[in-house]
Amino acid sequence: MSIILRAIEADITTLAVDAIVNAANNSLLGGGGVDGAIHRAAGPQLLDECRHLNGCATGDAKLTDAYRLPARFVVHTVGPIWRGGQNGEADLLASCYRRSLEVASRHAVKSIAFPSISTGVYGFPIELAAPIAVATLRDAAPQWPALDEIIFCCFSSSDRVVYQKILDDGTS
Ligand code: AR6
Repeated sequence: MSIILRAIEADITTLAVDAIVNAANNSLLGGGGVDGAIHRAAGPQLLDECRHLNGCATGDAKLTDAYRLPARFVVHTVGPIWRGGQNGEADLLASCYRRSLEVASRHAVKSIAFPSISTGVYGFPIELAAPIAVATLRDAAPQWPALDEIIFCCFSSSDRVVYQKILDDGTS
């Protein structure tokens, strides 16, 4: 069966998928944006588990339970901070998507939702980040036959339009 990739506009904390991805920071001890929303919705046990993970390198990912969230797991990944584009940002962002899928798939995850990693506080332009997200996941997904749905969970209608255009294009 082929994997479905789709873009929706939603609060990622409301999604009853197998795994949601968190755009965290190197400490994994919480923050603002989607990270803050996930920790608030999951409850304090999420922070307790994160304290035992010893942080996370940029471009890497680590998995936890999802506690009070409707999802089963949270995959915490750390996107690059945008510093003009000549500092490995694109490769690090691609690595976030690849590693998140890898970590999730080891837990037999069938459905996974990603926020638009690095495009908030970390300043990665969405027009550059979204094609990397789509191309990386399209490329990596066939390695994980158990996976059947990848959701790009956008937090605004304008972000959803950006992702939808790339998905419709089908070539990137
Ligand atoms: N559901 C889905 N997407 C969301 C939600 C939500 N509830 N809330 C925000 N977004 P950001 P980053 C979108 O800033 O750029 C944190 O403090 C948001 O509109 O959350 O990777 C961490 O601790 C944007 O499109 O993450 C780090 O320090 C996307 O999520 C830092 O921010 C990512 O925005 C990470 O920065």
